[in-house]
Amino acid sequence: MSVLDHLWARGCAFLGTRTAIMGGAMSWVSERHLVSAISNAGGFGVIACGSMTPALLDAEIAATQALTDKPFGVNLITMHPQLDELIGVCVAHKVSHVVLAGGVPTASAVRAVKDGGARLIGFAPALVLAKRLIRIGADALVIEGSEAGGHIGPVSLAVLAQEILPTVREVPVFVAGGIGRGEAILAFLEMGASGAQLGTRFAAATESIAHPRFKQAFIRANARDAVPSVQLDAQFPVIPVRGLANDGTRRFLAHQAETLRRFQAGEFDREAAQLSIEHFWAGALRRAVIDGDVEQGSVMAGQSVGMVTAIQPVAVIIAELIAQAEAAHAARSGACVPDAASAAA
Ligand SMILES: Cc1cc2nc3c(=O)[nH]c(=O)nc-3n(C[C@H](O)[C@H](O)[C@H](O)COP(=O)(O)O)c2cc1C
Repeated sequence: MSVLDHLWARGCAFLGTRTAIMGGAMSWVSERHLVSAISNAGGFGVIACGSMTPALLDAEIAATQALTDKPFGVNLITMHPQLDELIGVCVAHKVSHVVLAGGVPTASAVRAVKDGGARLIGFAPALVLAKRLIRIGADALVIEGSEAGGHIGPVSLAVLAQEILPTVREVPVFVAGGIGRGEAILAFLEMGASGAQLGTRFAAATESIAHPRFKQAFIRANARDAVPSVQLDAQFPVIPVRGLANDGTRRFLAHQAETLRRFQAGEFDREAAQLSIEHFWAGALRRAVIDGDVEQGSVMAGQSVGMVTAIQPVAVIIAELIAQAEAAHAARSGACVPDAASAAA
């Protein structure tokens, strides 16, 4: 029996899986193929609903169920204008776990998920919010550090883990952000986490439908290339998003400067200026992921991107993570196990 079986038993029981490795929902990337591949390999895939309509989500869930009989989740963004209908679609398909992202969900959204029979997973970017989520009915939490790809909070996983893991015992807590190797998973499990969520490493998996240029950009990049979006002026907030620096991120700075100039010249009122800044990235993730425009598109990636060195099948990624965790544990306890690379091969 692996040391992990013991350390992540609570996470596995909660997810209904063999390993407590979650594939974090990634808009445009986490669709039927990647999600079913992760679940079939013993992890927990999560469909990213993003801005899908209820009809599109309905088709995506059905297609995923056709590719796997293992549990998987659906990630819904709380500010989606049709959130109630989307929850209804998940309930109709008997989706076992719903992840509500993008802010603390309303009590009625939580009730709709739970009354429908699904387990609710929430994102806790601080201890107070973790407690609030548990109070309103979250069955598990993800704590995602600022190392992560995509939309980020201000606090690193190293700090969030210290703030939340020793305190929150009521529900399983999954850690996310910057995780690329099994040694890190082991360390967080030993701190009290029930499992780990990875995005960036799975985005470059063989089964991911991301464009080959998107995956190659991940293979080329180092941790320091995955940077948060930069806000030029305090009056005009920019949503913090971590992605690879490229022409688009440089043009975004110039666009903010030009918008500010036009605002100061009276050509834009405040609202129009803010909208112009927000609209800059509209459709940009799709352009990068699907069309392969990695220069102008939004190449969301976590700092873990430096640990993406090859396009690998999901099953190999998961086996490698497990082997690294087991080897690290064995090295510490003096036991002899095959090295991580040969175990994963
Ligand atoms: C390309 C990309 C798109 C993402 N889209 C979403 C999303 O739509 N919803 C969400 O909750 N998280 C999203 N995330 C965050 C992931 O679910 C996951 O928590 C994160 O990638 C973990 O950090 P890592 O990338 O360092 O592994 C995205 C991440 C990436 C890299």
